[in-house]
Amino acid sequence: MKTILTTSAKEAAEFIKRGGNAAFPTETVYGLGANVFDENAIAKVFVAKQRPADNPLIAHVGSVEQIKLLVSEINETAQKFIEAFFPAPLTLVLPKAERVPLIATAKLETIGVRMPKNDLALEFLNYCETPVVAPSANLSGKPSPTTWQAVFEDLNGQVDCILQGEATVIGLESTVLDCTTEIPLVLRAGAITLEQLRKIEPKTKLYQNKKDEKPKSPGLKHRHYSPRAKVIILSSKFKVQSSRSKAFIGLNLPDEEFDLIKICASIEDYAHSLFAFFRECDGENIETIYCQKIAETGIGLALMDRIKRAAEN
Ligand code: TXA
Ligand code: MG
Repeated sequence: MKTILTTSAKEAAEFIKRGGNAAFPTETVYGLGANVFDENAIAKVFVAKQRPADNPLIAHVGSVEQIKLLVSEINETAQKFIEAFFPAPLTLVLPKAERVPLIATAKLETIGVRMPKNDLALEFLNYCETPVVAPSANLSGKPSPTTWQAVFEDLNGQVDCILQGEATVIGLESTVLDCTTEIPLVLRAGAITLEQLRKIEPKTKLYQNKKDEKPKSPGLKHRHYSPRAKVIILSSKFKVQSSRSKAFIGLNLPDEEFDLIKICASIEDYAHSLFAFFRECDGENIETIYCQKIAETGIGLALMDRIKRAAEN
């Protein structure tokens, strides 16, 4: 398959309309889109990414109006979150409408819905004239792509089209918030922070998967975000071990010598740079990546979540 590269949102949307797929930028990471009502097109997304069939997709809308096409009910709490945040790096899990095919939700009766805060994404979605399911546009298990070049690296020849936008602003995937439960549950931390959500609904909690329990968000059990290199979390007391080639990413310049160093200006910059740095390290055959530990508040919670997952592998 030849992958078409384009800067035209309209051209990329034509592929969706014709039953194909197209990768597109959002404010979080690049997504690989397909028409939410087209089972064949969705099946091709799972194949291209080598994504396990039990991992549900997020549906993206170009307007708040379109949410009604996807869900059977928007409860009061969800309505408050929509009004407070959309468009935003926030995915709300709601009961799905009957017409949404089960391949999109991995057989769940709920669907994740989000309206991205990115002009090119919204232009693309509006040209599509339908909600678009889109997982992150990486090969399953690899770090999510924050540039179109990273999408190209993973999926060239496997997808119909890549819409070439800017590097994504946030760099970590959206906050996933389950609104089908009595108390809203954060299933995946992201740029919309727990603190921000609690301003709207003070009871909002962070979901903690208990051992031996089926995770609420099936994606949480899959291997994720991992570079080939070994990832080690560097707290102040930790000693850097010798290894053939090592890299560092964090906020403060360490004393040791590294082969590759990324000093970030802020926690936001750290979040923005992490996945791209993982890919750069793999390109340079780095053996070990040291990631500076930071406080798990604000976006630090999402950042440490991704680093911990990468370190588990
Ligand atoms: O920022 C993002 O969310 C990006 C961009 C492209 O929008 N998308 C993204 O999609 O990260 P993906 O497929 O890589 O991650 C979706 C996550 C998975 O962990 C999945 O299990 C969870 O959301 N999820 C999706 N639908 C769900 C549902 N109905 N119930 C619970 N979890 C769900
Ligand atoms: Mg993903």
